Amino acid sequence: MSKPIFVLNGPNLNLLGVREPHIYGHETLEDVRVRCESRARALGHDIVFRQSNHEGDLIDWVQAARTEACGLVLNPAGYGHTSIALLDALKSLDIPIVECHLSNPAARESFRHHTYVSLVATGVVCGFGPAGYELAIEAVCGLAAKP
Ligand code: DQA
Repeated sequence: MSKPIFVLNGPNLNLLGVREPHIYGHETLEDVRVRCESRARALGHDIVFRQSNHEGDLIDWVQAARTEACGLVLNPAGYGHTSIALLDALKSLDIPIVECHLSNPAARESFRHHTYVSLVATGVVCGFGPAGYELAIEAVCGLAAKP
């Protein structure tokens, strides 16, 4: 079997389900993990699913993805808007990167309109809530299948 897809989640996503549910919905991050796992399995892939509130953890995991993953789904949360260090780590990757947001940042405050991750993402899925993670997994599976 090929390498797993890394699904990495940034700060405050551990509070999914209780954090601003009018924006992010009522599903928990565990619900999202189950969605990702079943969608990936159906398409013949394993996932490694992680969340951290710490920028350095995310950078370490992105670096690990360089050799250990066949693709990356990343919801950088607030760090997408601020972290050049995360962008630099992503630049070291030679695998598909799908940036994923539950909400549609373009329809929110102006400080959310720019993300550094978008500069290196193969594509972006946003605004579809937890279902967007499944779309992101599908996209990575399609891209990873290509030689
Ligand atoms: C988010 C959007 C970001 O602007 C925000 O900082 C988050 C969550 C989303 O999934 O919609 O924490 O990435």
